[in-house]
Amino acid sequence: MKKILITGGAGFIGSHVVRQFVTNYPEYQIYNLDALTYAGNLANLMDIADLPNYHFVKGDITDENFINGLFEEHRFEGVLHLAAESHVDRSITDPFSFVKTNVLGTVILLQAFKNLWVNNWEGKRFYHVSTDEVYGTLGETGLFTESTPYSPNSPYSASKASSDHFVRAYGETYGMPYVISNCSNNYGPNHFPEKLIPLCIHNILNNKPLPIYGNGKFTRDWLYVVDHAKAIDLVFHSGENHQTYNIGGFNEWTNIDLVRLLCQLMDEKLKKPVGTSQSLITYVTDRPGHDLRYAIDARKINAELGWKPSVTFEQGLEKTIDWFMDNQTWLENVTSGAYQQYYEEQYQK
Ligand code: NAD
Ligand code: DAU
Repeated sequence: MKKILITGGAGFIGSHVVRQFVTNYPEYQIYNLDALTYAGNLANLMDIADLPNYHFVKGDITDENFINGLFEEHRFEGVLHLAAESHVDRSITDPFSFVKTNVLGTVILLQAFKNLWVNNWEGKRFYHVSTDEVYGTLGETGLFTESTPYSPNSPYSASKASSDHFVRAYGETYGMPYVISNCSNNYGPNHFPEKLIPLCIHNILNNKPLPIYGNGKFTRDWLYVVDHAKAIDLVFHSGENHQTYNIGGFNEWTNIDLVRLLCQLMDEKLKKPVGTSQSLITYVTDRPGHDLRYAIDARKINAELGWKPSVTFEQGLEKTIDWFMDNQTWLENVTSGAYQQYYEEQYQK
């Protein structure tokens, strides 16, 4: 029985990856290692928590002794590394947490994996889950390819770029078999409501303003989270060692057009007069260093591994809205307490 470590498995994307692996690979023992920060939530995994091949470990990837002990105890043959501080706005106010978890935490995992297997890499793999933000920003045209030079603009993306470089360096220096994927913006069930789409769904449900940074013309390329989890599964099992794969949906939206579409769908769901939710749109101060446009060229993963998104944006958005409306207790639980203070500090500036 192969033991696989997934870090950050209680977070948004990690929980979908854990579910994908636990349900599709009963022959693997899946260990979900998560520190349960504000973004980690075991309620995301309630449906699979009792399966015999799933194990949860609470712990911090920056705790070197703990990580070394865990690797020695379980001798993981595969690692899927998703644990991270992931929110750009938080990185602007608190860059050190991002350096600590995203850079130091990644190197601690790499070193623990290297110490175990440096004399026998056969059948081992370290998968680092990264982001398109490492490439910086696009202008009006063009797409990020796997050979686009790194040019990160936020403390978050700089920390992710740094961790990508360390993974590559362990491959070159110690021969560690690794794959990296750089994905565009995800959306879907369990998305933490400080990110644009779940924040707007939450605010529409509560009749609160929908904050649009700057002029709203910033563009993101949106992918349904379950399709990202399926892509990660494919890359982990069939990707080539020492390769990077860009993952995205060829699905670009300006923030303002996206929020208008969301408003229209929510009005229909809530049986409110057309335009009710749109009246909540409020332009607010822009994010410092705000990247204008991200767009992924996903032709490599399509051509080499046959991956493509399984749902259209309209289908994915509808599933997402339905999930949030059916899971309002989840939403209330994560938006009580500390969330209120974050929200006030972020939007009363
Ligand atoms: P998230 O913030 O929802 O979840 C992060 C998880 O990591 C949480 O469960 C948290 O408790 C855990 N964690 C944080 N610090 C930790 C530490 N020191 N030790 C152990 N666990 C820790 O993030 P997400 O949106 O699910 O993103 C997951 C990964 O995917 C990240 O690496 C992110 O950079 C990358 N990514 C995210 C997106 C996106 O649109 N959300 C897109 C591309 C790539
Ligand atoms: O591109 C991948 C990245 O996508 C991931 O690496 C990050 O972990 C993930 O958080 C996400 O980053 P973004 O900064 O693009 O996501 P966010 O939802 O925070 O913002 C999306 C866009 O919406 C961005 O242009 C900023 C804007 N925005 C965001 C918020 C929270 C607003 O206009 N108003 C808001 O209140």
